[in-house]
This record gives sequence, structure tokens and C-alpha cells, in this order.
Amino acid sequence: MNKTILCIGAGYVGGPTMAIIADNCPDYKVIVVDKNEARIKAWQSDILPIYEPGLDEVVKRTRGKNLFFSTDIFGGINEADIIFVSVNTPTKTFGAGAGKAADLQYWEKTARDIIEHSSHDKIVVEKSTLPVRTAAAMQRILQSNTKGLNFEVISNPEFMAEGTAVTDLQHPDRVLIGSMDTPTGQAALQRMIDIYTHWVPREKIKTTNIWSSELSKLVSNAMLAQRISSVNSISALCEKTDANILEVSAAMGLDSRIGSKFLKASIGFGGSCFKKDILNLVYLSEFYGLPEVAAYWEQVVLINDYQERRFVAKICNKMFNTIASKKIAVFGFAFKADTGDTRESPAIYVCKMLLEERAKLAIHDPKALENAMLDLADETGDITYCNDPYEAVKGAHCIAVLTDWKDFLKYDFRRIYELMEKPAFIFDGRNLLDHKAMFELGFNVYPLGQPALSHLK
Ligand SMILES: NC(=O)c1ccc[n+]([C@@H]2O[C@H](COP(=O)([O-])OP(=O)(O)OC[C@H]3O[C@@H](n4cnc5c(N)ncnc54)[C@H](O)[C@@H]3O)[C@@H](O)[C@H]2O)c1
Repeated sequence: MNKTILCIGAGYVGGPTMAIIADNCPDYKVIVVDKNEARIKAWQSDILPIYEPGLDEVVKRTRGKNLFFSTDIFGGINEADIIFVSVNTPTKTFGAGAGKAADLQYWEKTARDIIEHSSHDKIVVEKSTLPVRTAAAMQRILQSNTKGLNFEVISNPEFMAEGTAVTDLQHPDRVLIGSMDTPTGQAALQRMIDIYTHWVPREKIKTTNIWSSELSKLVSNAMLAQRISSVNSISALCEKTDANILEVSAAMGLDSRIGSKFLKASIGFGGSCFKKDILNLVYLSEFYGLPEVAAYWEQVVLINDYQERRFVAKICNKMFNTIASKKIAVFGFAFKADTGDTRESPAIYVCKMLLEERAKLAIHDPKALENAMLDLADETGDITYCNDPYEAVKGAHCIAVLTDWKDFLKYDFRRIYELMEKPAFIFDGRNLLDHKAMFELGFNVYPLGQPALSHLK
């Protein structure tokens, strides 16, 4: 049996997923290809293109043994008979469905590359998150080949989260595999099960029809984002009523039907997936003539935007209704802790709104400063990027905490307070810091969804 696996797309999903497969399946050769040369070079170097706790070790153990990174996409297609496609599927910015539908151009290009460079039958695995029924279009394109080859499309969406990718992949809650109910579909399914059972208990491998598998991934992301927007909407109500969102979330979360995870109020969700996947769900619902369903899910995104705006409005309002020329130390730019990824980070939107108010920004993040510079490259305002948090706060009027990096908890806030302009403010968009301790140091503290701790009368 040919035991060569190819993955097209060496991004946040392709790289870690394949490293874990290679690590657990020494009897397989795993090749990861990408059209982006710089990215492949980085995967071959000591400084990987993405930061993920534990990933360096896995890549070091496997690279050059049974894990290979290459730009030879066509050679890889020819060699492997299982091809994972993990290319990006951004939101369409043009034509029908612009702003909502998934842009499948990279996906379709890959399908055509596969046809052109294949000389034997292959299993094509949808690893990217795709609209429900993409596999039908995929199968149609692939079967249009004139070489008499059979291509079997499998859906195997990825549920790992950035920041915890290695543990998520090593110990997944479930592995989902959707396949066609045909003899070749079932044979392909079995080959996928054979890979995953190298390290995942069989009962955690769920098999479904291919459409359920595609839709489950979109809906999982939508449900996760919906919990965040639900709690965030209630955080606004808490601020009006002196209820405390931490207490409300804890009380709710004790109900085993609700569960305690993903009930943290914040400035909002980010990352490359949540917004894109919900908008995709909205588009699909509209496409299938279900406007009420579309409106329901769209609200999740609208509340997220509202929460970012509300946070900036609070900063302006509490700092005497103007932040023009005031220095704001931004603590955290990554969309969440333990990653350098800033795609769709709420920090991008918050910083842009602060710049519109003509604030000066000093941005500090342990891993995401390079990406922050790219994200704000077109902004004309006064922005500095600081590796050193104490540099960022020097002469600042306030600190805005935008990412839940635990590193911030270790900083010397007494020293920070001394370095800042007075009155000194903290706007904690992640409810991360010890607010009482900050208040006792002299800060005016504005958490999210909790009563403020202010020395100002
Ligand atoms: N990032 C996550 O946390 C996450 C989690 C689960 C699922 N997903 C889904 O996985 C997919 C990939 O996400 P990602 O974050 O890894 O994206 P990414 O942008 O980090 O990586 C995609 C890679 O594919 C490459 N690529 C695009 N077209 C190509 C082609 N024709 N040939 C070769 N390479 C090509 C790009 O150069 C890029 O390096 C998306 O559909 C996403 O929704 C992402």
C-alpha cells in the first residue's frame, strides 16, 4: 500500500496537523507543500513560521525522517495517494456573495492541479473549512478528468484551536470523517480511520455522511462564537445594572446543560475562522431561502462589532470624553494568548478606532508585534511598537488590555503605575488583571461587565 500522505497548504492547520500525523504514524511518509516559498523555507528552518506551544519539538522529532516540507506541489501530488487540502478559504470580496460567501478559488485551483498531475487514483481530503456541499462540486471537477482516474472526496474538518494546536491534535475531543456511501467511499473512509487510530481511540472517531461533516465544522464555529457574543451582550447589561459578568457566567456555567467553557466576556472573538465561517453560514442560509436563519446567525457577528465599538467608546468616555493626543499602551495584539496570529484580531479594529480618535498608540505583545505592524501598515497615526512593556507605558494615560496573555500578570504594575501619567487608567478588555490590586496601586480600573473601581468622584 502507498503510505505517502500529501498536504497542500502549510499554514496554521496544515503544518501542525501533518506534524502530529507524522509523529504518530512512523510508517507513513508525510509531505507538506505550499506555493509560498518563504513559508516552506521557514518550516525547514529553526524558526518555524507559526508559534504554537510544543510544536517545535514535534517538528524537530519528525522533520527529515518522515515529515518533509517542499514547494514541489506537482511532484507531491503525483507521489501521494492521500491528499489533504488545507488551503485558505477566505471570505469572498467580489461578485455574488461578496462579504459573506467563501472564496473557493484556491480550493478549485488545487482540484485542477490534482487532476493534471495525477497518474493513479487518489483520496482527496477536505481539511479546510468549506461550505456544505463543496464535496459535490469537488467530486464533479475531479471526475471530469479524461485519464480514467478515480478520485474519492472525504471531509475531515479540523477542530484544533490556535494556541493549543498540539494538545488538541494529540488528544482531540473527536475526529470527524464524512464520506460517500459507496464502496469506494467506504474504502477511502477506512484508510482515513487507519491513519487516525494510530493515536486516537476508535470511539472518538465519528463517521458521518459527507454533508453532515462539512456542515458540522461551520456550525461548531458558529456555536462557539455565538456563546461569546451571548455573554458579551450580557456584559453590556451588567455594566448598566452593577451585576458582575464573572458571577453571572459562573452561575450559568454550573448548569451542566450549559457548561462552563466559552463563557468569558471579552472585547470579542477574532481569528481567521469564526467571522468567516459564520458569514458563510449566513450566506448559505440565504442561498437556500432561509432568511430568518441567516438573520439569527448574522447577529452573532453584529454583537461582536458592537462589543469592540463599546469598548472604545468607554475608553473615550471615561477619559473625560477625549483621547486625542493621549498615549494609550495597548497590551496584546494577537487575537488570543499563546499565538502570534492577528488575523481578524479585535485589536486591529480597536486600534483603528483609537487612531481615528487621534490617540497615540504604544503596542506591546509578546509574539505578535511583526503581524501588528503589517496590520496597521496603512495607518497614518502615531504608533510605536514596543517589545518592552515598560517602554510602552512610559507617559501613557491608560493601558488597554486586548489579549489575555498570562505574561502580563507577571509585570511589575507598581513600576508601571509610576511610569504613567496620572490619573492612570486600565481598561481590561479581557478581565485578565487583578482589578482590586490594580485599584489599590492607584489605577482607575474599568473591567468588562463588572463595576468599575475608580478613584475619581
Ligand atoms: N487557523 C485555524 O485555527 C483553523 C482551524 C480549523 C480549520 N481551519 C481552516 O483550515 C483552512 C486553512 O487555514 P489556515 O489557518 O491554515 O490558513 P493559512 O492561510 O495559514 O494557510 C493556507 C496555506 O495554503 C497555501 N495555499 C493556498 N492556495 C494554494 C495552492 N493552490 N497551492 C499550494 N498552497 C496553497 C497558502 O500559501 C497558505 O500558506 C481554512 O479553511 C480554515 O478555515 C483553520
